[in-house]
Amino acid sequence: MTAAVPREYGHFIDGGWREPVSGGRIDVLNPATGELLARVPAGNSSDVDAAVAAAGKAFGKWGRTSPGERQRVLLEIAARIERRARDFALLETRNVGKPIRESRSIDVPAAVDHFRYFAGVLRHIEGHTQSIGASMLHFTLREPLGPVAAIVPWNYPLLLAAWKLAPALAAGNTVVLKPAEQTPLSALELAGELADLLPPGVLNVVTGYGPDAGAPLASHRGIRKVAFTGETATGRLILRYAAENIVPATVELGGKSPQIVFPDADIDRAVDGAVTGICQCQGEVCFSGSRLFLHRDIHDAFLEKLAAKMAGLVVGDPTKEETQVGSLISREQLDRVLSYIETGKSEGARLVCGGTRPGDPSLARGFFLTPALFGGVRNDMRIAQEEIFGPVLSVLPWNDVDTMIAEANGVAYGLAAGVWTRDITAAVRAARALQAGTVWINMYGYVGAGGPFGGYKESGFGRETAFETLSHYTQTKSVYIGTFEKKAGGR
Ligand code: NAI
Ligand code: MG
Repeated sequence: MTAAVPREYGHFIDGGWREPVSGGRIDVLNPATGELLARVPAGNSSDVDAAVAAAGKAFGKWGRTSPGERQRVLLEIAARIERRARDFALLETRNVGKPIRESRSIDVPAAVDHFRYFAGVLRHIEGHTQSIGASMLHFTLREPLGPVAAIVPWNYPLLLAAWKLAPALAAGNTVVLKPAEQTPLSALELAGELADLLPPGVLNVVTGYGPDAGAPLASHRGIRKVAFTGETATGRLILRYAAENIVPATVELGGKSPQIVFPDADIDRAVDGAVTGICQCQGEVCFSGSRLFLHRDIHDAFLEKLAAKMAGLVVGDPTKEETQVGSLISREQLDRVLSYIETGKSEGARLVCGGTRPGDPSLARGFFLTPALFGGVRNDMRIAQEEIFGPVLSVLPWNDVDTMIAEANGVAYGLAAGVWTRDITAAVRAARALQAGTVWINMYGYVGAGGPFGGYKESGFGRETAFETLSHYTQTKSVYIGTFEKKAGGR
């Protein structure tokens, strides 16, 4: 997919590649090496106009296709991604900087599975009927909304596109997808791969920067729903744009998710869960388990094991099989994470390990960082409150359950949480008390098709990856029929 000569992409609009109206380009880089992978259009409102027009035109037909036909198409999308799974995994790794073992085992198979899942459940987009007295019958239709704007971030470009594309297309909507400016390649490759499968205009991809391409898309009058994943500040803007046009929006935003370890937990498993919870995708995950609450009784022993494990992780070339931690997405993100490490130190937290750039000269051109572990963190510190989006774990000791739960809930976010204990009652009590859209008990970080995923509080609203997601991509029409039945004893 990425040839030796960097490819020049156009936008993908109305079934084909389109030159950008303004002609500006964005260099797409491999963050681990600095290599130029491709150039994509720096789209603007004119490109967005063309894409939304194409999506609007295509909706006329696609919105009326039979469920069976849409199921066939979604299954074929899954099959095509799967057929090129190795290519997509490598492309994702080269563009995002994440370990190949992750793109191959998480990003690509999960994207495939999402298309299969929605191919299945779309056959259950159903209304209901009721008979109202003798003279009236009522039924409902669930109808697609129209062109959907899907705006996604750079950490899981293919998978998060699939989270939005699969339910949108399943329900009969058309889509204009705007990938993140850093990572547009898998979306463009997917659109090209599906060019002869999807009718023109059903899936359009416009690349560009947020304010130039994302904002005109989210605020476009031809868009009937906005689906967004990204940072909370951008989510606020998205909701404003959608409010202007009175269209529904779902927003999956930031997180500062707690992992809670009870004294009776299986410590080795919990250590593993804490490590993957903060190191998967270099910590650039919305549901990163970035605050670790350790009970006092096990605190010191746990921290020691955790530090040893984190310090032993292989940080390096993400295309290599053995790599466990790849490169952050950009210089900007690295600087941001490094500045949080300085903040943590100046706030009085104790840096136990990591938080430095690896010495290996072959990594010097990338944005690598050894995973950082902070002990002695207080909940009012910035490193305990703000989303860092990098491999930085804050450890907070606890004694009393209620106080700890209050601290765990004491952040603006509410995306996810982890609970580690062998005591089922303690686990379920904690799961109930935690203000989070997802709670994992004795595991962390699995999001599979069928389980609703989304936020509480400032982590957003709307649920993706599940049957109820279809309710965000359809609207209900009530139809009443007068049946002119003879009234009993009437004429
Ligand atoms: P972002 O939320 O600004 O970007 C996500 C998507 O929104 C991208 O496609 C971007 O082009 C688009 N966008 C940006 N501004 C827009 C606007 N005004 N209108 C419409 N679309 C717009 O995230 P960004 O700036 O790339 O990252 C900033 C920080 O946010 C990161 O350092 C990270 O800490 C955090 N972040 C959190 C994510 C999460 O899922 N929790 C995802 C991405 C970033
Ligand atoms: Mg931004």
